[in-house]
Amino acid sequence: MASKKVFIRGIGSYLPERVLTNRDLEAMVDTSDEWIVTRTGIRERHIAAEDEFTSDMATQAARRALGDAKMSPQEVDCILVCSVTFDMAFPATACIVQKNLEISTCPCMDIEAGCSALVYCMEVAAGLLQLGSYKNILVIASDKLTSITDWQDRSTCVLFGDGASAMVLSTDASGARAVLVDTLLRADGKGGDILFQPGGGSRHPASEETVKNRLHYLKMNGREVFKIAVRGMGISLKDILSRNQIELADVQHFIPHQANMRIIEAVAEASAIPVEKFIVILHRTGNMSAGSAGVAFDEAYRQGRFAQNDLLMFATFGGGMTFGTALVRWLI
Ligand code: UT7
Repeated sequence: MASKKVFIRGIGSYLPERVLTNRDLEAMVDTSDEWIVTRTGIRERHIAAEDEFTSDMATQAARRALGDAKMSPQEVDCILVCSVTFDMAFPATACIVQKNLEISTCPCMDIEAGCSALVYCMEVAAGLLQLGSYKNILVIASDKLTSITDWQDRSTCVLFGDGASAMVLSTDASGARAVLVDTLLRADGKGGDILFQPGGGSRHPASEETVKNRLHYLKMNGREVFKIAVRGMGISLKDILSRNQIELADVQHFIPHQANMRIIEAVAEASAIPVEKFIVILHRTGNMSAGSAGVAFDEAYRQGRFAQNDLLMFATFGGGMTFGTALVRWLI
């Protein structure tokens, strides 16, 4: 990472109020609490209200991160929002968040990199900050995954939930919670057809046909995603450690994408990492796509799980396929 340091000045997250349990799902599709818990570790997930959108959850998380940083929204000079469920194709959800926060004129943009997008946004924000044009960038990951969930498909609908997380990244060290050590991004477009939402874009614009064929819902080959995720996360975490000359044992906390406890256990086993080092919230939240890792980060921070000088590693994977790995040093 280039010379100018990038700090995390504020952290926040938001989960919608309504909780959907595995028992509730038993009444909706042919599944069981036992199957869902054994195969995924998920017990319940938060579901956004019908009139609560990705931008609303993003705004709530952003307000909490700004509160944590003791900053007013007017001090933000750029907003990045990542999601796979933006409010609409355009305008950018980041612009809607800007309006909600009553910030004027700062640049706003959306970034899509599946469930790895939080780390992608962190790298983009760090690059912009290091160019020197910005001082405080709001990085927000928010997903209303239940808006593209096929409630008739038991192989996917039991996995997902809604939620948002936010961070204020800054070149200003005052009150900083953590400093970014490094980020490592990867993608493999050959894996694009194992996790995707086919309908609604230029390839399959909305039509009676796309609705009839349920193309506006998320499609997934779970087994393939599982294998690629475990392999890819293992490679990325080794690579980021080796290029920073850091030993695995020197990392105190791993903050993984919250998709499946079995994926986390497989990564832990393959890399010989004690599973207790992984921050896990998926049993209460399900998979919130881009929002997942940041919510886990915020909750662990608020529970006081990080000590001064602890090294934290974000390890994410998502549709694309994409991988985002970040090292962060805790400062307080
Ligand atoms: O953000 C990234 C998103 N995606 C992921 O991370 C997903 C990664 N993959 C996974 O987490 C797992 O592959 C799943 C949890 C999706 C599935 O677990 P699995 O152990 O790979 O199960 P499977 O797909 O091989 O299915 C096993 C059986 C099948 O029945 P048969 O063919 O053996 O008779 C499925 O039909 O389980 C059945 N099944 C279910 N049964 C009860 C699939 N979904 C359900 C369900 N309830 N909800």
